[in-house]
Amino acid sequence: MPVRAVVGAQWGDEGKGRIVDYMAQKADVVIRFQGGDNAGHTVVNSYGKFALHILPSGIFNPDTLCIIGTGTVVNPDQLEKELSELEAAGVTTDNLVVSDRAHVVMPYHPRLDGLEEANRKDGAKIGTTKRGIGPTYADKAARFGLRMGDLLRPDHLHQRLKSVVPKKNRTLRDFGVPPVDVDELMATAERWRKAVGHRIVDVLPATRAAVRADKEVLLEGQLGVMRDLDWGIYPYVTSSNPTAAAAAVGAGIPAALITDVVGVVKCYSTAVGGGPFPPEDLSPLGDRLRDIGQEYGATTGRPRRCGWFDAVSMRHASWLNGFTALAITKVDILDHFEELPVCRGYRLDGKELDAIPYTTDLERVEPVWERHPGWLSDTRDARAWADLPDNARAYLSHLSRLAETPIRFVSVGPERDQLITMSDA
Ligand code: GDP
Ligand code: IMO
Ligand code: MG
Repeated sequence: MPVRAVVGAQWGDEGKGRIVDYMAQKADVVIRFQGGDNAGHTVVNSYGKFALHILPSGIFNPDTLCIIGTGTVVNPDQLEKELSELEAAGVTTDNLVVSDRAHVVMPYHPRLDGLEEANRKDGAKIGTTKRGIGPTYADKAARFGLRMGDLLRPDHLHQRLKSVVPKKNRTLRDFGVPPVDVDELMATAERWRKAVGHRIVDVLPATRAAVRADKEVLLEGQLGVMRDLDWGIYPYVTSSNPTAAAAAVGAGIPAALITDVVGVVKCYSTAVGGGPFPPEDLSPLGDRLRDIGQEYGATTGRPRRCGWFDAVSMRHASWLNGFTALAITKVDILDHFEELPVCRGYRLDGKELDAIPYTTDLERVEPVWERHPGWLSDTRDARAWADLPDNARAYLSHLSRLAETPIRFVSVGPERDQLITMSDA
């Protein structure tokens, strides 16, 4: 069985949660490999509608081992909250474990995230989710981080906090806000240990055993390639890599074993937060996309910036991830549009580009549009490729050609069964 990665091909919110929920029905293991509770992965199934922030979207299958992987950053309060919400809805969560190597989002991290963001000038704001993701990964890289396994080792944690807290307090003082206290943090950590300590394990033995036994293993990414720390629109990015290569590191699986990479792509584009977004449509048509597509952030509730399909970012995503298949989502939203623009390339200083340039250049590009006819009919009940209108098939086939990747799934609604699976999948 190939190890499969499911990753976002655009600016995030492509429908990864929805696709992982579907694919996880057959999975033995699902691992979230990066990011934290900045994710908002919406899943609609027989249990109800959920926006998952840190839990893997395979959590609804009691027989699937769900792992919050080593590459993630975990806010235990948020984890506890999400687990309670799911349990209240009748979902079993005994199948959830957290890597002891994942880093902890400490109470000062979201505070610092908010303060740093407030300090950025208008126009330079990243528009972070304020979940503390950047500061937690920064501490990880600077070796000031605390790991989930530290919660199980109070003496070690105490030593670490005594060395880290003075530094954090210097930064908090610079911002003119009250400091944090080692004893209070120890008390918080003790509460976390009681709540989630039994789930914190070395995840590698189970991961290795599953891969060796040829089990179905799914790796779930957070966000999309355009917000990738290295290949996205730096500095308007997140602080981890939402690409398939990072899945190997974040999940603890040899890179060469990840041989199936599903790129989740919305058939138009949305982005939340700052930074260049060339396919954005600031006309009333963009507002219509937002209204019909209900494009509001699953984590922050912010209205998403809306625009049309962008072939340049798609090819960027396709190369960086090595997509073997596409899952194209939200096709039903385009049922309502007479004409569908597609951004084929970018124009910069009179030249047409077909690759993503440096961020400062990307801010200056003009999209080059092609226009495709819409289908103006209801696709929500389509369950086979042949059920789709001719123009929808032509449009989707065109996107697949632009992405240089075959289509495996076409999603025509948020519900688990509103999906077309191509025959060879
Ligand atoms: P993620 O972060 O990539 O998991 O995506 P989000 O959950 O943030 O955003 C996707 C939104 O679109 C959610 O509200 C989903 O319920 C919804 N959705 C996913 N696929 C479809 C689809 O094919 N049609 C419609 N109408 N909604 C969809
Ligand atoms: P899912 O997994 C869309 C954006 C923020 C901001 C930038 C950095 O649901 O696709 P961060 O809080 O990570 O430091 O913010 O990335 N962002 C997202 N946009 N969907 C998400 O997650 C996002 N997670 C972060 O808006 O611009
Ligand atoms: Mg989302």
